[in-house]
Amino acid sequence: MTPLLIAEGVTRRFARKPTWGDRIAAAFGAGTDRRALQAVTDVSLAIQKGETLGLVGESGCGKSTLGRMLAGIMAPSSGRVLLDGASPMRGGHKITTRIQTVFQDPFASLNPRRRIGDSIAEGPIAHGLVSRAASGALVSDWLARVGLDPAFAQRFPHQFSGGQRQRVAIARALAMQPDLLICDEPVASLDVSIQAQILNLFLDLRRDLGLTCLFISHDLGVVRHVSDRVAIMYLGRIVESGTAARIYAAPGHPYTRALLDSSPKLGQAAALKPIAGELPSPLAPPPGCAFHPRCPIATELCRRERPVLAARADGGLLACHHA
Ligand SMILES: Nc1ncnc2c1ncn2[C@@H]1O[C@H](COP(=O)(O)OP(=O)(O)O)[C@@H](O)[C@H]1O
Ligand SMILES: [Mg+2]
Repeated sequence: MTPLLIAEGVTRRFARKPTWGDRIAAAFGAGTDRRALQAVTDVSLAIQKGETLGLVGESGCGKSTLGRMLAGIMAPSSGRVLLDGASPMRGGHKITTRIQTVFQDPFASLNPRRRIGDSIAEGPIAHGLVSRAASGALVSDWLARVGLDPAFAQRFPHQFSGGQRQRVAIARALAMQPDLLICDEPVASLDVSIQAQILNLFLDLRRDLGLTCLFISHDLGVVRHVSDRVAIMYLGRIVESGTAARIYAAPGHPYTRALLDSSPKLGQAAALKPIAGELPSPLAPPPGCAFHPRCPIATELCRRERPVLAARADGGLLACHHA
């Protein structure tokens, strides 16, 4: 079976914004620091039809940048993204409606002055998926599917709670009948009890619609029940991937273990161990294994040589000298 989406060696650099120090140095004739920041480095992955891939790592590790490149919203600096064998973007612009995205802040994606029914119908009408006359029924159907009263179509975004707004954003994305849904931290700004409701909604939609989904979160606990497979990202690279069952039962990478220990589990939110140290700056990645300064089992080899992402016997991938 060929995967729906493939990323091959995808890398993204950003020009570093000049600091005041750079400007002052330039004014005195000194060369400015032109180092580029590399947010994503050489990521390869595949998403199969009907599967949900969880993408997890600390804030700043490059998840959103990778998600944007996979969605075709941002061009990679090198490498390529293929949707059914073709690129979802041309000339730096998204050319497909087959990938839809849901972001952390549903306010940002909904026009505050439009009734949410109109916001949901807008895309499908513009792309000829439904006639204007039939769009009301489409909106009702999607509102019901995401657990909202179809009468809410007449309301404006500010009349909803955070969880309800995220349901609207999900309905709006799915009304476009995408082949792939990319959700970037869709529950991060919600209360824990509301998070659980939205995650349950994803489970229902996955079962009912056979959804294919990339689900991004900084919290390994959040993606646990919605993911078939999980990929762990550290400082711009995938450091481990595997089936969700295996990642949670037997994490291979010390970083994955640390993420698991720092993720709240139902009923035992008290005993959280934050991960020691901080995510290094992508401007100055540590030599060798990028995780070695924080790793409890790092050795001289880890300080010197970056471990390659190698296949495990169970089909997963792991980049660690000692796991
Ligand atoms: N447009 C941008 N210009 C410069 N740096 C960026 C830009 N977007 C993201 N970055 C940097 O890239 C790194 C990864 O960011 P991001 O992909 O947002 O991570 P995450 O979603 O995991 O929190 C961070 O160091 C961030 O500051
Ligand atoms: Mg992000």
